[in-house]
Amino acid sequence: MQRTRRLRKTPLVREMIAETRLHPGMFVYPYFVIPGKNIIQEIKAMPGISRFSSDALVKDAEKGLRAGVNKILLFGVGEKKFEDARMAWDQNSIVAEAVHTLKKNFGEDLYVITDVCLCAYTTHGHCGLLKDDYVQNDTSLDVLGRMAVAHAKAGADMVAPSDMMDGRVAVIRERLDREGLETIPIMSYSTKFASAYYGPFREAADSAPGKGDRKSYQMDFRNAREAVREAKIDEAEGADIVMVKPALAYLDIIRAVRRHTALPVACYNVSAEYSMVKTAAAAGLIDEERIVMENMYAFSRAGAGIIITYHARAILENKWL
Ligand code: PBG
Ligand code: ZN
Repeated sequence: MQRTRRLRKTPLVREMIAETRLHPGMFVYPYFVIPGKNIIQEIKAMPGISRFSSDALVKDAEKGLRAGVNKILLFGVGEKKFEDARMAWDQNSIVAEAVHTLKKNFGEDLYVITDVCLCAYTTHGHCGLLKDDYVQNDTSLDVLGRMAVAHAKAGADMVAPSDMMDGRVAVIRERLDREGLETIPIMSYSTKFASAYYGPFREAADSAPGKGDRKSYQMDFRNAREAVREAKIDEAEGADIVMVKPALAYLDIIRAVRRHTALPVACYNVSAEYSMVKTAAAAGLIDEERIVMENMYAFSRAGAGIIITYHARAILENKWL
């Protein structure tokens, strides 16, 4: 008989042979920043997550920092929307202001990543510029490039394009380099699927497309080979980190991308994945801590070295690791 149970007998021996380990350093916590002063708006669709004005964000980030939440991903919400998304690259945008304030307060103690995408800035809510009901690729690239530069100039440590236009990593890299921002890395949402799991986020970021869907630019979830191709293209264009999004229903994709690149691989544990856990836990159906940690180990086991999750704050504050 093969007695595999020998190594499961006590907590210490189980700990000793654990194949997967999580570290506080691998977590990234998303934040939604809005215009105004001293404002905290709870997001109903995402229990425990709020939108903050930049002054309130500084206070909240300080609390998070004490628990070890030292990497954040910023989304700008509530900016004035234009057909050409011009506030996206405005040096006085709410994101630029928030980045500036955060870096002034925390310097290198807080690593600030910004989401680069047009959907919260366009009147139509698409991630690129729209013409004849089609999201235009090449004209959107210029805007995305300007947006990344504006964020980096404001002090962002890293930019994260989430739009899924072809060629955007190369354009952003070139624009950053041209501005003397060659030390700013790009974390590409390289492998982002058109997914119903973004539902609560679109309420949070007020970024739902007014008409149509995102299937002409985000990936079809039936495709795994194409997912690897997307990651490799972004690597060739100069991405420093590639990402798989969503995460839970896409563990096979995380694994496949991990096998095909030497770059760090991140996964994004998205809004509906979060909200489903929170509502089921509030209903008493599941144990939040145990479910959350089982999910985090699954991401790590699949091959993600970086986990972007709305649970990061609770994991670190409550010492669930
Ligand atoms: C915008 C963007 C989305 C998310 C991150 N960036 C939504 C979308 O593509 O519609 C989803 C994040 C989440 O659901 O938590 N490009
Ligand atoms: Zn978008």
